[in-house]
Parts: sequence; structure tokens; C-alpha cells
Amino acid sequence: MTSFRLTVEKAVKTYGGVTALADGNLDVQAGTVTALLGANGSGKSTLSKILTGVVSPNSGSITLNGAPMRFASPQAARQAGISAVYQELSLIPDLTVAENIWLAHEPLKNGFVSRTLMRQRTQSLLDLFAGLYNRHLTPDALITDLTPDERQLVEILKALSFDPRLIILDEATASLDGQQVNRLFELVTQWKANGMAIVMVSHRMEEIFRIADKASVLRNGRTVGERVIAETSERELVELMIEGAGALHRERAPLVDPANPVRLEVRGLKTSVLHGVDLTVRDGELLGLGGLQGQGQSDLLMALFGAIRSTGQMIVSGEARHFRHPRQAMAADVALVPGDRGSEGLLLIRSIFENLILPSWGSYGTPIRVARAREKGAVIAEELKMVMSSLDAPVNSLSGGNAQKVVIGKWLLRAPKLLLLNDPTKGIDVGAKAEFYSLLRQLRDRGTAILFYSSDDDELLGLCNRVLVMHDGRVSTELFGDRLTHEQLVSASMGTPS
Ligand SMILES: Nc1ncnc2c1ncn2[C@@H]1O[C@H](COP(=O)(O)OP(=O)(O)OP(=O)(O)O)[C@@H](O)[C@H]1O
Ligand SMILES: [Mg+2]
Repeated sequence: MTSFRLTVEKAVKTYGGVTALADGNLDVQAGTVTALLGANGSGKSTLSKILTGVVSPNSGSITLNGAPMRFASPQAARQAGISAVYQELSLIPDLTVAENIWLAHEPLKNGFVSRTLMRQRTQSLLDLFAGLYNRHLTPDALITDLTPDERQLVEILKALSFDPRLIILDEATASLDGQQVNRLFELVTQWKANGMAIVMVSHRMEEIFRIADKASVLRNGRTVGERVIAETSERELVELMIEGAGALHRERAPLVDPANPVRLEVRGLKTSVLHGVDLTVRDGELLGLGGLQGQGQSDLLMALFGAIRSTGQMIVSGEARHFRHPRQAMAADVALVPGDRGSEGLLLIRSIFENLILPSWGSYGTPIRVARAREKGAVIAEELKMVMSSLDAPVNSLSGGNAQKVVIGKWLLRAPKLLLLNDPTKGIDVGAKAEFYSLLRQLRDRGTAILFYSSDDDELLGLCNRVLVMHDGRVSTELFGDRLTHEQLVSASMGTPS
């Protein structure tokens, strides 16, 4: 493979009065993994999209192997060998996996689109992740029937199908479980050895240190530094990203007082995925749910919230309840923060304020409603460090992480008694995560019962004192005290408790 070097200098991008990128710089080379780091809203996705021709910069220069370059369209960038997995998924739900992957570059045989070739090539791509997805993921499966992690895998394979020389992974690991991430990183290592260039955006520092060679850091739209990974530390990078970051402390929850009232008790809960789950959460407890992706954690939370059908026994706030609809759950002071913001219906063209306030609207007294609601909205936006031009800006003007903060904020504003969290911090930067953790601790200390699923083991270890590990639709292991360690979490996740 011939050499490949792409550089961006002094890139500027504005949207109306908003500066998404003020001085973006990047130097990408063959055989190198470059991490693009920065807080939510710092300009990472914007810079990535300039590389792929999706966003055209107001000014700045791009050079490809030393020659000035300007990508007029994504097709032009693709022809130059640049392919990307975007943060917001772009698959068409009603088409099959194969149709999505080969859209607009269908394999031909004798000048005609060959569906046989398309299926075969899709299967070989899927084989790269063999054993790491459910059996229903086949070339002919419809996207709409896939789980979030499977959709993410298809996005990655789609980017790969262009046989790129540079692949950009914008938070491509956020929906994947540990094993899927491991496999992706094995592949990245192979691609690197074959001379491909890789740009990776991730808010998980541990991933950056595992896979990246160098890191370029953005702060408020400006590139503030580049570091060689082997010569830097997590602390140095976080400080570059976030002014005055200081120490992001960890503090595990105390074991809940057994005298606290039981807020939720579940016995023998079953759905098509759950094979009988038992658990108890008390007021003031932050109970963790762990395990590999897709072992029933989301189903459990959705069933508890009345969003999917289930059978079994549920006692909420001392009463036998079985919610048939989220409205009933909400009326009983139960809230669910989803992690998959794409499918969870933010009203994208409506304002941040309207989205934030929607679920808690009823709790504000009539005459002063709007003023009080605005005050509360402003406080939660501040607490979650939302980067936005104003509360009245539409949600679709927010960066990925900031949109997820709206999803979190709107449920926190309801002040629930039982808070269900379905992997809520996907795509949220380290600074905002720390704020979110302290909000969770506050809620817990005020007596909220919290059931918290996270695909990030560090998060469970840092926040919870008891974690239920799920495997194949059941709670397979309960970890607490000395047994709540990273090693135990991993082995329990694999279904091999030690
Ligand atoms: N289409 C748009 N209209 C208005 N503002 C935008 C638009 N796209 C991005 N922005 C703004 O530009 C800034 C940079 O956004 P960008 O998506 O590049 O951030 P990011 O670093 O990728 O953040 P995240 O980690 O949350 O994904 C943000 O403040 C965002 O609100
Ligand atoms: Mg982004």
C-alpha cells in the first residue's frame, strides 16, 4: 500500500452564531491510530465530518499526501479512501443488513447487481465478529430487528466495505460490550499492520491507552495539543481536555442500611429474553446491573418500566404492581433513563427546554409554570454541563454527548422514587460523567432507589456497592464487598463465576 497522510490545518466551522470548530488541526498517517479527544461539544465530530466531506469548513486547509484537497461530498472523500462510522447511526431500518452495507456500491456481476455476491460478502464481513452477535443477525435480517450493539457492528462493517485507507471511528465502541470491543481492537491492530490509518473518538480513556498511538486534543473547538500515548498519562490528557479538571474522584456507595424500606421487589420476572429474575432494591441504594451486552439487562429495565410485556411478581413501594404502560410507571414515580438516545424519541427539532421539561410538566403549578420550569431546566443544564447556545436551541444542534445529557436531565427533573438507568453515560465526556455520578450520589443520599445498568465496568465498580451480573436472561452472580472486583466482574460476565 502506498503511503497515506492526511492533514487538516486551522479548520473553522460555524453554524449561524455557533462556532463548532475554531481552529481544528489533525495529522493522520498510515499505520497509526490517532485518538481525537475532547469534552462533549468540543468539535470532534465536526472535525471528523470535515475529513469525510460531510461538513464543509468555512476556512482551513486539508492536504492529502502533500497536495491540497477539498472534499466536495462524502463520495469524493470515499474515493480518496476515507470512510467513517458516525456517532449517530445512519442505517435504514427497513432495509436488510446486506442492502445497508452495499447501498450505492452494490457488487456487480456482468454489469448487474448481484444479490448473491452481496450476501456472500456481507457474510464474510459478519464473520469478522463471529460468535459475538445473536443468530438472528444474518445478511438478510432487517436492521429494525437488530439490537443496538448489532446495529453498531453493521455500521462498522459498512465503513469497512469501502476498503478504506483511513477509517474514522466516532464513538464506535459506545454500544459494544467488552468482548466486541476486544475483537474490534484486534481488527484495528491488523488494519494498522496493513498500513491503514485509523482515527478514533472515544470517551473511555482506558480504550485510548489500549489502542491509540497518539492523541490530538480539542477544547472549545481548538486543537490544544498532541501527545504520543506512550509518553503521556490519563491525567495529562484529561487536564488538556478540561480546564481545571482536578482529580475525578471515585467513591463507592456504602452498603445500604437493611432497615431502609424496600422500594422494588421482583420475583420470577419473565419476558422472551428473561428467564426468571429476582431482585430487591431499597431506598437509598444504588444497585448495579452488569454482564455482557444483551444478557437481558435492557429487557429487565424496560419490563419494570412497563415498556415491554412481562410476567412474574413485582412489588413497587409496598404494593403489588405490574405496569402495562410507561405512563403507569411514571404515575408511580418510576423513571427510566435510556442509553440509546436515537430510539428514545428526543423531539429533535424542538428546543432543549421543551425536551427537558416534557416528562415533568405536570408537576409545575399553573400560573408560574413556565418560569419555574425554566429555572429548573437551567439548573439541570448547568449541573450536567450542557454545551449549548441557549435552552431554546433545537436538540438537533447539540453534539452527541450533550443530546444524551438532555435525555438524562429530563428524567432527573421528575425526581423519581425509583430510578432505572439503562447504560446512561454512553458518549458522555469524563467531566460530565463526574457531574452525573455526583448527581446520582445525591439522589441516592436523598433516598432514591436506583437500579443502574452500565456496560462500563469501571462505572459499576466506582459507584455501586452491590452488583447483579446478568447472564442469559438471569441474575447469575451477586457481587459485593471484597468480591466486587474487576476480575470477578469479568469472569461472572462470561458465565464462569469463580
Ligand atoms: N448542525 C449544527 N447546528 C448548530 N450547532 C452545531 C451543529 N453541529 C454541531 N454544532 C455545535 O458545534 C459544537 C461541536 O459539536 P461536535 O458534534 O463536533 O462535538 P463533539 O466533540 O463531537 O461532542 P460529543 O463528544 O458530545 O460528541 C457543539 O457545541 C454543537 O452544539
Ligand atoms: Mg461527537
